[in-house]
Amino acid sequence: MHKPLEGQTALVTGASSGIGFGVAEALAKAGAAVAINYHSHGEPAEKLAAEIEKAGGTAFAVGADVSDEAQLDAMFDAVRERFGTVDIVVANSGLQKDARFVDMTLDDWNTVMSVNLAGQFLTAQRAVREFVRRGPRPVSKALGKIICMSSVHEIIPWAGHVNYSASKGGIQMMMKSLAQEVAPQRIRVNAIAPGAIRTPINRDAWDSKEALDKLLTLVPYGRIGEVDDIGRAVVWLASDESDYVVGATLYVDGGMTLYPGFADNG
Ligand code: BGC
Repeated sequence: MHKPLEGQTALVTGASSGIGFGVAEALAKAGAAVAINYHSHGEPAEKLAAEIEKAGGTAFAVGADVSDEAQLDAMFDAVRERFGTVDIVVANSGLQKDARFVDMTLDDWNTVMSVNLAGQFLTAQRAVREFVRRGPRPVSKALGKIICMSSVHEIIPWAGHVNYSASKGGIQMMMKSLAQEVAPQRIRVNAIAPGAIRTPINRDAWDSKEALDKLLTLVPYGRIGEVDDIGRAVVWLASDESDYVVGATLYVDGGMTLYPGFADNG
């Protein structure tokens, strides 16, 4: 099997479930050694690390709250200790705290902003520092790669989720501005904007036939996404196959951002 990330090391935040879990699996399959970050649920992350190791890969689970600088520093230290350095950082941790706008509390707002937006800022900052500290490696043309997990809601407004869509809109410009700043150092920063992917975060949208049928009216390609759809996109963005891709957002959404309501002439 072709392993495009052989010899490289990766860190995926928020990888104990959902998209992060699938991304960690995909990176390991592609040959990378993977640090699997979790916040509160260590067990699935430990289990995934054990499975990767059993299959001949290299992985370990590491706990940290990405909105806490000291915990992030400790996590990067742990990654350095285990792998020497990191080549690929996937800033994926994210959560929803949905509420109608008039009822949304400042805590709902701040929690989502601090994990989804500040968490990616702090994670990416430590990634850049590490890439620069250790200098070039023969394993990749780039000094390092950062992949920010955005959402179709960086451009699709979302009533009832003002905090979440604002955080993802923020990720779009954070990613691009950062990409512009560090490209001269040959650091590639890009984002993936997933659409509806079957994970626990949106279970209500797919766990009954009625819900799924309704969801699929928003997806021209006619199926819900699976975490491996995102995993494969991350592997490509992390590999030298995408070496000239800098500051791009890759929408992996079955066409959700194509204004499907206009398919019948609006
Ligand atoms: C959200 C999901 C939602 C999807 C498409 C994601 O960013 O986390 O809950 O199903 O966007 O609307």
